[in-house]
Amino acid sequence: MNEASFIPKSVKSTVDSGSFTWESPSNIALVKYWGKKKDQIPENPSISFTLNQCKTSTKLSFSKKENSDDYSFDVFLDGQKKPDFKPKIETFFKRVEVYLPFLKDYHFKIETSNTFPHSSGIASSASGMSALALCFMSVEKLLNDGKISNQFFVKKASFLARLGSGSACRSIEGPLVVWGEHGSIEGSSDLFGVKYPYEAHQNFNDYQDTILLVDRGEKQVSSTVGHNLMYGHPFALERFKQAGQNLENLISILKNGDLDDFIKIVESEALTLHAMMMTSLPYFILMKPNTLSIINKIWEFRKETGSKVCFTLDAGANVHVLYPEIEKETVLKFINNELVAYCENGHYICDVIGLGANEI
Ligand code: PMV
Repeated sequence: MNEASFIPKSVKSTVDSGSFTWESPSNIALVKYWGKKKDQIPENPSISFTLNQCKTSTKLSFSKKENSDDYSFDVFLDGQKKPDFKPKIETFFKRVEVYLPFLKDYHFKIETSNTFPHSSGIASSASGMSALALCFMSVEKLLNDGKISNQFFVKKASFLARLGSGSACRSIEGPLVVWGEHGSIEGSSDLFGVKYPYEAHQNFNDYQDTILLVDRGEKQVSSTVGHNLMYGHPFALERFKQAGQNLENLISILKNGDLDDFIKIVESEALTLHAMMMTSLPYFILMKPNTLSIINKIWEFRKETGSKVCFTLDAGANVHVLYPEIEKETVLKFINNELVAYCENGHYICDVIGLGANEI
């Protein structure tokens, strides 16, 4: 499939008004995407666990307008009008207009809310952009008299979500999603995320992700800026190769359930992501002292108990603590006894891997 396959042949804006609501989760990458080409084409393939609790719910209402000269929309977060969200959505509209030719025919009201606390430091772009992309796919399907296959619906939703925020394309389905072409993963594409097509060992069933909220402040460096700093980065080419190799190695690990090998890849990926930030120009650090204290505590706990708990990081200071379901009780005890002290106001969120977005 190429970009042209997502341009509709004929869509007539025959419906006057309506609304759709989708709920879409966040995701956490095991092999990280960091560095992109034009239009959010990733420099390397990535794979993520889809989450279950950290979600965005978006209602898109649309009504036919008089002319089709320009975009017309309003955005609300938790019932409050958010003019500051408009530029990002306008950029998204511009990128997707060729694929959604009805965009200028309607006025859109976008009402959104997150299950995780606002300014928790958890990025809402993956869940938010995927929920919005799914709402637009529902409109497209309606204008096509329902004649869109489920398979195409999901692929195009992921394709559109990618144009909003790269990692958002991995939030449509679950529990494991690959994005970026990889020779050993059938169906993988730079254009959209696909469900991981091979067997995953039962050790990964209901894998837990407890997100420790270390720093709820605004990120000092956006991921857009971070991705751009990979242009001309001295280690970029090696990094992109390494990500492909790590994904290759994960295929057999996911199959045989070797959690020690899983941990090595996941933690190395997290630290490499931050190492890329620290070695770009300008350089920057998103981890906080408490991030490092938590990492050291996890390493100590693993050494003392033989636990298979590990960590990963997003582009921020918060720590995602990953562990198999059978260790839920002991790891939560460990978190409560030893890690909560490093969280801002003692806050953390318990999540588990999930199956993707749902229409409400
Ligand atoms: O989707 P973006 O452009 O916000 O990039 C996100 C990149 C990371 O979260 C740091 C890694 C990833 O693969 O999700």
